[in-house]
Amino acid sequence: MKAKADRGTLISNAADAIANSDALLVCAGSGIGVDSGLPDFRGNKGFWEAYPPFAKLGLRFIDLANPAWFDQDPELAWGFYGHRLNLYRKTIPHKGFDLLLKWGESKPGGYFVFTSNVDGQFQKADFDESHILECHGSIHHLQCTRAGGCNTTIWRADKVIVTVDETTMKAKEPLPQCPICQELARPNILMFGDWSWLPYRTESQQSRFRQWLQENAKTRIAVVEIGAGTGVPTVRMTSESIASTYGATLIRINTREPNVPPGQISIPTGALEALEKINTQLTR
Ligand SMILES: NC(=O)c1ccc[n+]([C@@H]2O[C@H](COP(=O)([O-])OP(=O)(O)OC[C@H]3O[C@@H](n4cnc5c(N)ncnc54)[C@H](O)[C@@H]3O)[C@@H](O)[C@H]2O)c1
Ligand SMILES: [Zn+2]
Repeated sequence: MKAKADRGTLISNAADAIANSDALLVCAGSGIGVDSGLPDFRGNKGFWEAYPPFAKLGLRFIDLANPAWFDQDPELAWGFYGHRLNLYRKTIPHKGFDLLLKWGESKPGGYFVFTSNVDGQFQKADFDESHILECHGSIHHLQCTRAGGCNTTIWRADKVIVTVDETTMKAKEPLPQCPICQELARPNILMFGDWSWLPYRTESQQSRFRQWLQENAKTRIAVVEIGAGTGVPTVRMTSESIASTYGATLIRINTREPNVPPGQISIPTGALEALEKINTQLTR
């Protein structure tokens, strides 16, 4: 009974912080997509349940998300990324995305999204591309695998089709090619041990984000962080540091890792449930 009352208070505190803010910063990790049916890659068990063929090969997420596979076994490399590309293309973002967009658009300072997700779900939910920072890149953009890219081009993957044999998780020929030198292409995603990722697209997003923060520095910013884990803590560190630098309220929505710095708001439920409950409070 007590826990329920506490949760209600947390939801209304979160709604108040959002209602009283002038600008909205949304920070997101893979947990935001779980209610759209996407796996978060938490732990090997979760990953291998989503991808049994990789369990058979004994390959973990961290082993596969490595650019070396594009040299050693291009079909396997594109099996991993091609399968995810196809999955993200057919996924429909849940209603929580629409609520975040509605709140953000209603603010005088608007909104910005900071995410380590490469899945393009914010763009799919109609968030403005120029208000999104994808710190680990995007699966919907490609680059050349030649050292450092054969030039600095990053191109959209919209016309690229990758067919994956789901029993072996290997992609079938033809694999995506660089339009300039015809070598193998790869996603413009920052992988583990990755020295050839081209940062230019993310750097442009970073400079737009800095500009937005500057414009809103003297206003009240609400930070809503959703589904960001502690394993690779880039998103959590960003939301905590922005909350402390700008005196903003941080609302952390996270099922398994909801702990927050003192004075901030922790909501230990799923993304969709929390966002819908906050919205109910906001529209009262
Ligand atoms: N094994 C690995 O090497 C590994 C695993 C995960 C992520 N990564 C990489 O690290 C980066 C950051 O990871 P991440 O933080 O996005 O993912 P994560 O899987 O580490 O964390 C997901 C977080 O979402 C929370 N969550 C799960 N379901 C939720 C729901 N329905 N609603 C709200 N929260 C929910 C979990 O409690 C967890 O804290 C990613 O870019 C990814 O590429 C690597
Ligand atoms: Zn090339």
